[in-house]
Amino acid sequence: MIVISSINSKGGVGKTTLTANLAAMLALRGQRVLTIDLDPQSNLTFSFISVDEWHRYYEQTRTIKSWYYDFLYRNVESELAPLIISPKHVNQAIADHHGRVDLICSHLELMTIDIFLASRLKRSNAAQRLEATLRVYSRLSQGVRQLQDYDFVLIDCPPNFSLVTQNAIVASDYLLIPAKPDYLSTVGMDQLRTRVANLCQNYNAHLDKAPASMRHLPHIQPHVLGIVFMMVTFYAGQPIKAQLEYIEMVKRLGVPVFQTYIRDNKSVYADAPRDGIPVVLQQRIRAAQQDIQAEFSQLTNEIEEALR
Ligand SMILES: Nc1ncnc2c1ncn2[C@@H]1O[C@H](COP(=O)(O)OP(=O)(O)OP(=O)(O)O)[C@@H](O)[C@H]1O
Ligand SMILES: [Mg+2]
Repeated sequence: MIVISSINSKGGVGKTTLTANLAAMLALRGQRVLTIDLDPQSNLTFSFISVDEWHRYYEQTRTIKSWYYDFLYRNVESELAPLIISPKHVNQAIADHHGRVDLICSHLELMTIDIFLASRLKRSNAAQRLEATLRVYSRLSQGVRQLQDYDFVLIDCPPNFSLVTQNAIVASDYLLIPAKPDYLSTVGMDQLRTRVANLCQNYNAHLDKAPASMRHLPHIQPHVLGIVFMMVTFYAGQPIKAQLEYIEMVKRLGVPVFQTYIRDNKSVYADAPRDGIPVVLQQRIRAAQQDIQAEFSQLTNEIEEALR
């Protein structure tokens, strides 16, 4: 099982779009994929199921919020498996391909979890603080590692570096960083890399001092698979000059950059979530959609290659 998080503290760069379409693409290739929506905005959740379905069946007890609540208010380390649902439309669309896309839903109130997770870290005694830190930071990792039957777990993160996002990073084998080729994305990239490196260093340092009861936790070293440039505008077969300059700037930072760029196409992406099916699986294929499918297929090849 390979765990990959889609992270970028910057909002609206394509984290959720990448998660949903990569999940679909991998499932088309026969992989069993679990997606986890860690963003209180719940965009990934609502790309797969309707708001009505969520209210009716999942809001109360089957979201990642209830799972964190068990930990925070009942001190229970629940399993993730009971939260998993199999969204109907996406799985119908891949029915002939032996793969599947499952989902753990998010919840708007996940927004408050961070404050409570942080309050867990406040302990007067150093030994208690160490144990609490490791428990809080490894909560999702421990949950994910109990799962069976999946080839991939894809985690869609919120646009911040909250404790919940850090939980995802600790749980991940790999990180994907979707980005727009613009000024702010390039500025943020270095900071993101530093934050991830600091998190890993701190977490591992805590582990080194851990009590015997926590020694089973593994050290972490999530590997940055690469930056995926999303919403790229093409002219004459390549990204427009201004964007190309930003792409080159990011390449110079030394972070791997995927060669496949995902093109900007407002009309195709804007309506996609309404059908519960990511763009790459949509049947109503117009020419533009075929291009998009080819792009994601190529990107998935590259990602699979990077995982080898
Ligand atoms: N290639 C694309 N071309 C045009 N629009 C796109 C493309 N990819 C994504 N979008 C649109 O851009 C918006 C932001 O994308 P998305 O929600 O995937 O970003 P995000 O990083 O997950 O955002 P947030 O930080 O809010 O979670 C969405 O409305 C989405 O439909
Ligand atoms: Mg998102």
